[in-house]
Formats: sequence, C-alpha cells, structure tokens
Amino acid sequence: MLTKSLEDLMNDQIANEMFASNQYLAMSAYFEDLSLPGFARWFRLQAEEEREHAMKFYDFIHDRNGRTRLQAIGQPLIEFGSPLGVFEKALAHEQKVTAQINNIYATAVRENDFASQAFLNWFVTEQVEEEKNAQQLIDTLRLIGDRGDALVMLDRELGAREPGQEQDGAES
Ligand code: FEO
Repeated sequence: MLTKSLEDLMNDQIANEMFASNQYLAMSAYFEDLSLPGFARWFRLQAEEEREHAMKFYDFIHDRNGRTRLQAIGQPLIEFGSPLGVFEKALAHEQKVTAQINNIYATAVRENDFASQAFLNWFVTEQVEEEKNAQQLIDTLRLIGDRGDALVMLDRELGAREPGQEQDGAES
C-alpha cells in the first residue's frame, strides 16, 4: 500500500510525464514544419516513450492498491527559434524531470518504501540517459552551426532511430 504522500507525488508524475509527451510532440511538429523529418521522427518516438513513462506510474499505483487521479496538463511550448533551441529546452525539461524523480525517491526513502525505491531505480537510470542524449545533440548542433549540409546529415541519422532505441543506439 502506498502512503498518501507517495500516491499524490506519483499522480503528479503521471501528469508531468504526459506533459513531457505533449511537449516532445510539439517539438516533433516544429521539425515537421522545418521539413526535417528525421528530427521529427526522433521527437515523435520520444513523445511515445514519455507516455510509456506515465503508464509505468499508472500501473505501479494500481499494483500497490492506490488510486490514480488524472490531472489537467499545461500548454507546451510550440516555438523554439532554432533546432538548437529545441534541444536546449529539451535538456532543461529533462533536468526538471530528474529533480521530480529525485523528490519522489527521497520521499520513498523517508517512508521506508522499498518497493517504490526499486520501481524508481529504472527512472533514475533513464534520466541519466535522457540528459546525456539531449546534451550530446546540443554539442553536435553547436559544432554544426549554420551548415545546412551537416544539419541534413544529422537529420538522416536521427531518422534511423527505431522505437525503443535511444539516440546512441542503446535500448531504452
Ligand atoms: Fe520521462 Fe524524458 O523523462
């Protein structure tokens, strides 16, 4: 059985992950508009992953005999200025999610909820990967600068991402 405070935090996290899904879909739409289909595909898959993250919390709450309460989610950003601007926002967002996961984890530790800690370990590892991927793409885009040919090559590379695969080829 989950404590009330953990149940509330996990319900908040369902909304946070759903928001992330919408935010990444908005980023995908931005790249569709720029005719960069590889970036668009990468963010679309990212959006699907975030929904899966939300569903992990959804299922875990039920597994622990808790109650899920879906919440309203906010308006995502839709303008980013440049491809680099998109990844800078994505990294800032992932850093925020890392802080949210750490806060839930710290609560589970305080409450001696070992099952929740075991469940959250997957998210702690995932956040390392998410931040690393965003940072790597920021570094690459900074190197590319305004070279359109290099941007098109990166678009092809990102377009090769398969569902369940991270940017560096690792399974998620
Ligand atoms: Fe669900 Fe990108 O963290």
